Amino acid sequence: MKKQLLATLLAASSVGAWAEGQVNIICSVQAEWCNMIGTVYARTTGIKVNLSLKGSGEALAQLIAEKENPKTDIWFGGTGDPHLQAAEQGLSIEYKSPSLPQLHAWAQQQAQQSGFKTVGIYSGPLGFGYNTELIAKKKLAVPKSWADLLNPALKGEVQVANPASSGTAYTMVATLVQLMGEDKAFDYLKQLHKNISQYSRSGTGPIKAVARGESTVSISFVHDGPGEKINGFPVETITPSEGTGAEIGSMSIIKGARNLDNAKKFYEWALTPAAQEMAAAAKQFQLPSNKNAKNDPRIPDFKKIKFINYDYAKYGASAERRRLIAKWEKEVNSLPR
Ligand code: G6P
Repeated sequence: MKKQLLATLLAASSVGAWAEGQVNIICSVQAEWCNMIGTVYARTTGIKVNLSLKGSGEALAQLIAEKENPKTDIWFGGTGDPHLQAAEQGLSIEYKSPSLPQLHAWAQQQAQQSGFKTVGIYSGPLGFGYNTELIAKKKLAVPKSWADLLNPALKGEVQVANPASSGTAYTMVATLVQLMGEDKAFDYLKQLHKNISQYSRSGTGPIKAVARGESTVSISFVHDGPGEKINGFPVETITPSEGTGAEIGSMSIIKGARNLDNAKKFYEWALTPAAQEMAAAAKQFQLPSNKNAKNDPRIPDFKKIKFINYDYAKYGASAERRRLIAKWEKEVNSLPR
């Protein structure tokens, strides 16, 4: 991190008191943002930050595995559906932040429908990423709709993550089910399977493959595009014309946290505008949940995107999430390509 940037971030931090101890965080956003919050928070508070980077589905699996003996205090980021599942399964605790009124309605709703066991920290739309140079070189049309992704010319040219490990990919499955109805959505996923070169573990794997020229198209959160572009890669994004879903990236305090006070302190800090603006500083362009956070111009313009009315409560319920992932494994992932 550049010295000047770090100095600015330290000055912007609202946590002044020197404290001690540690906080164990599972972080489900990209490494650059995780490392930045870890470094800045540790330097401004004196609290040692132990970070573990895990995709949303993998984070949930870890929290289930360590339920009797939790090693995690707080889960920062990742798609909201598995955070809702964690709340339902009693893996997180109820906590009402005094900052809740400062948050957008969608972030407060995420808290309310979990009995205040999670909260929205950012939002972002699902769409496609594509490599502009490869599209031109292979004389392919830019896919503008879900239907366009089934074009046989895209065989082996599309990447998406695996919905069991990735919240991004689960958002895709849940979005298609809501958009088309379950039977048509699974027919669609089976067709799409023929064009998929690889199901990656992490949700950002596919857009990184697009950036490196290893894949032409990805199904990704569109806020993951600008960071690749800043790094010099020929990546553009688009949202599908039929409509799409959005994630409510969330944060939860873990039941049985050994460092509960520090978990609450970190939670409060993570909801401040200064902390939320670090996403853009780390080249991540989700919409922050605090209404007072400055919005970087590279954040997707939600007003220009056609959204479905994503039912977060239904698709974040344990039984539904498990059922859809198992069905995808059995009926889609097992098919030959
Ligand atoms: C990226 C996105 C986040 C998203 C996360 C989900 O980091 O920038 O907005 O929440 O992926 O990761 P996953 O690996 O679970 O799909």
